[in-house]
Amino acid sequence: MWSGTPLFPERASTMASRVDALYLFLVALTAFFSLLIAGLIVSYAIKYRRRAPDDVGANIHGSMLLEIGWTAGPFLIVMVIFVWSASVFFAMSSPPDETLNIYVVGKQWMWKFQHLDGQREIDELHVPVGRAVKMIMTSEDVIHSFFVPAFRVKADVLPGRYTNVWFQPTHPGRYHLFCAEYCGTKHSGMIGEVVVMEPSDYQTWLSGGVPEGSLASAGAKLFADLACNTCHRSDAQGRGPVLEGLFGKTITLQNGEKVVVDEAYVRESILMPSAKITAGFQPIMPTFQGLVTEEQLLQLVEYVKSLQGLPQVQTR
Ligand code: CUA
Repeated sequence: MWSGTPLFPERASTMASRVDALYLFLVALTAFFSLLIAGLIVSYAIKYRRRAPDDVGANIHGSMLLEIGWTAGPFLIVMVIFVWSASVFFAMSSPPDETLNIYVVGKQWMWKFQHLDGQREIDELHVPVGRAVKMIMTSEDVIHSFFVPAFRVKADVLPGRYTNVWFQPTHPGRYHLFCAEYCGTKHSGMIGEVVVMEPSDYQTWLSGGVPEGSLASAGAKLFADLACNTCHRSDAQGRGPVLEGLFGKTITLQNGEKVVVDEAYVRESILMPSAKITAGFQPIMPTFQGLVTEEQLLQLVEYVKSLQGLPQVQTR
């Protein structure tokens, strides 16, 4: 219906029609009441105009029915908007369990994408059609915003933490990617393309990449290069917690607090090791702030993740 009008971007994700339905409902609602009010103003101005110089208007006092009507009516309408928007918002912010994860690093002024298999891309992202894709995003410098109008997704990309956004493309094609947060001189040039491919084409594309090795294997190498393995030993004899089987678990900290070991926790523990110490350990780990790049952090996070399936040795 909207394909011929430049007003609307195409709908290329499972979320697109839900967002549009809500949006069009709001537009229709606004249009209806705007026209109703404007129409009444004009027609009453004509109908009740002063016809003679000594005309005096009728003296009308309140109407209970009207009062109740214009209180209850808007209340019901905004509740409909609230429940509807909340359901769309929850769907947008809860990715399915099985997602294709891709890391995104925003930087003045480019988008860097890192696939788990090792492929890297800049300002272009290849994904298969029909699969839920989760972007795990961070920024190297200032706040950016990942925006793909055709998918109806937009999320801020913040330095110092990971934010997520997910989408499931429904049609193969090339879609615009924008930065939607003013981030400096060339903000408007911080654009790219998301290329949605048939699964078979995607496989071909994946295998055609430079054989850099997977993100996790790069992380494993870095883990050894930085000598992390001297303390984080798999035999529970090291001075740091065992990392095997750790990712996704809930751990107890020194102060009794419980935290889930997720991407953000691993990242923080590398950059600010003393922030959240696992119960039973000493805050002796040095910080790696400034020593590892955002990309290397992702490799390390992915390495720790790859140890997820391994059995965890009983620690203390
Ligand atoms: Cu990055 Cu605007």
